[in-house]
Amino acid sequence: MTIRIAGIGTSLPPTIVTNHDLEQRMDTSDAWIRERSGIGERRVSGVTSEMGLDAATKAIEDAGIGAGDIDFVLLATCTPDQVIPATSTQITRGLGLTCGSMDINAACAGFAYGYAAAFGLMLAPGGPNRVLVVGADAMSKVVDWTDRGTAILFGDGAGAAVLERHEQGDLLGQDFGVAGDLREILYCNHADTIVMEGREVFKRAVRAVTQSVKNALDQAGLTPSDIDVVLPHQANVRIIEAVCSRLDIPMEKTHNVLEHTGNTSAASIPLAMAAANEAGALQPGKIVVMTGFGAGMAWGSVVVRW
Ligand code: ACO
Repeated sequence: MTIRIAGIGTSLPPTIVTNHDLEQRMDTSDAWIRERSGIGERRVSGVTSEMGLDAATKAIEDAGIGAGDIDFVLLATCTPDQVIPATSTQITRGLGLTCGSMDINAACAGFAYGYAAAFGLMLAPGGPNRVLVVGADAMSKVVDWTDRGTAILFGDGAGAAVLERHEQGDLLGQDFGVAGDLREILYCNHADTIVMEGREVFKRAVRAVTQSVKNALDQAGLTPSDIDVVLPHQANVRIIEAVCSRLDIPMEKTHNVLEHTGNTSAASIPLAMAAANEAGALQPGKIVVMTGFGAGMAWGSVVVRW
């Protein structure tokens, strides 16, 4: 008996900020942003718990179960509603549940961490039967809207997946790491706004993700050519292209939403998952890689048999 994803849900707040909107606020252009990042628009003014609850509700419905069938909630976020209590408790409350829940902060790698953590919980003696893993971030509240180096990249959103015990599906390999000495290249200052050395993050991300995917594949006894679907963190299409080129994976195997969402941090992998699902790419038996990186710097990859 192993574990599969039984349902997926997403949520985006209604307010759209296009690149043309940003042109009015700062010295930038739609052409520059698209060329350097692949992003065309992003959603803003989201609230982490509300987006998380909305995505969770849809994932539960997609799984064909009721909220009462969930017995643990994991929320990956780096933008909690507040520091205390954990934002996951408000998603749990919204679902009418009193099961265990906790927040995980691994920034943009959070969903991969959450997925592996859920697996561990479920396989431990007495562990939950169904875990709801949510990735939700309201990046618009920590963005400095006068800084063209960061404001163009980030957006708000949420994605959720219901994990349940089943003979279909498996976790084949995983790789996690952090480089705490790189704190200074991406962090929130005392005003709680993001400070980022974009070029440095870019270089480190390409290296870290490439190595992390290799490590997770090695563990699974697989090679890049065995991968059917890549669900990468949606930070910058050029990062995804650079990683794919180093691993010799065709871009067609990746599923991307960043043109319409920007970088939604922990939400980006489940948003990409929902896009892959809609495209019919997530069929039983397919080898799927989820990989992310972000502030910390933290990175994480999981190799899954769907
Ligand atoms: N519009 C127009 N010009 C700009 C803008 C802008 N918004 N921003 C920078 N420029 C200019 C720069 O000033 C520079 O000009 P110069 O050559 O005259 O000095 C030029 O464009 C190139 O700037 P770079 O910073 O070298 O541009 P780069 O190609 O690196 O793209 C970007 C910048 C998009 C930020 C890129 O570095 C990137 O995506 N980095 C990764 C960021 C990332 O992934 N962060 C998320 C991590 S996840 C998490 O944990 C939250």
